[in-house]
Amino acid sequence: NQLIAEAEAFKAQSKEEVEAFRIKYLGKKGLLNDFFAEFKNVANDQKKEFGQTINKLKKTAEEKVNALKEELESKEEVKGVYGDLSRPGEPVQIGARHPISIVKNQIIDIFSRIGFNVSEGPEIEDDWHNFTALNLPEYHPARDMQDTFFIQTNPDILLRTHTSSVQVRYMENNKPPIRTISPGRVYRNEAISARSHCFFHQVEGLYIDKDVSFADLKQTLQHFTTEMFGKSKIRLRPSYFPFTEPSAEIDVYWGLETETDYKITKGTGWLEIGGCGMVDPNVLENCKIDTAEYSGFAFGVGIDRIAMLLHQIGDIRLLSENDVRFLEQFKSSL
Ligand code: PHE
Repeated sequence: NQLIAEAEAFKAQSKEEVEAFRIKYLGKKGLLNDFFAEFKNVANDQKKEFGQTINKLKKTAEEKVNALKEELESKEEVKGVYGDLSRPGEPVQIGARHPISIVKNQIIDIFSRIGFNVSEGPEIEDDWHNFTALNLPEYHPARDMQDTFFIQTNPDILLRTHTSSVQVRYMENNKPPIRTISPGRVYRNEAISARSHCFFHQVEGLYIDKDVSFADLKQTLQHFTTEMFGKSKIRLRPSYFPFTEPSAEIDVYWGLETETDYKITKGTGWLEIGGCGMVDPNVLENCKIDTAEYSGFAFGVGIDRIAMLLHQIGDIRLLSENDVRFLEQFKSSL
């Protein structure tokens, strides 16, 4: 009886083990043959019980052998299809976010915390949204400020030269108060070099409400650069854009100590990161916003430039060449 229990509890990992088990119980010199040989020596009154027990043991051992064989075979089938499932896995290659995306997401985070939403628009634009609505009528000399890639002329269809076009679309479809930022890719017909490319990325911001002042603009930008660069100063240098009046260039000085840091900022410590100004009333009127009630400010900053500054990237072309040796370095970033 104890042998029956042992046979029932037996487990095997391999065919060899099953075979050893079979030989031990059912083989020519196995236990069962010994018992059957013993049978004639058993006293007559015990023959019945002894016989039943060894028959049961035989059955148990045979069933066990068959069950184990089946089990091992089905495991082997699985191995054939999927390989060995118990092997350690191949390491998964994890990618990195692109530095442009990292910086873009940081900018979106900063502005969404102070109530700005995100708006997007098409990269292929019409003349109205890229130029005319923004106070750049046909033959306006300021159109030359932005070397445009035209897809079609008359009517003009072009690759947007700035994401100010998205702000026009937003004002056409939404009523003030407006607080929105428009990140995206823009195109200009410029020679490609370490410092400029024929496409790059901008985030433009638009704020329209009652009683908006230039001080609101400056504080918003100061808040942005402090969040983005840490301790930083900004300088608004008078400038000209057709869609803002007054207009300014945004320079940031982020008080770096080492010589290499100064090299990026061309030795002065001040670096231009974008443009800004109070939205020209003509633009508001073009978008059917009542200028007696509302005013606002707008700004645009270059994502590529900020990414280059923050991550010490010396050549803008690296941002679009997709060299994995470059991209892999951003694995530890957000
Ligand atoms: N659209 C301008 C550019 O691309 C930047 C800008 C945006 C300036 C908003 C003023 C206000 O150069």
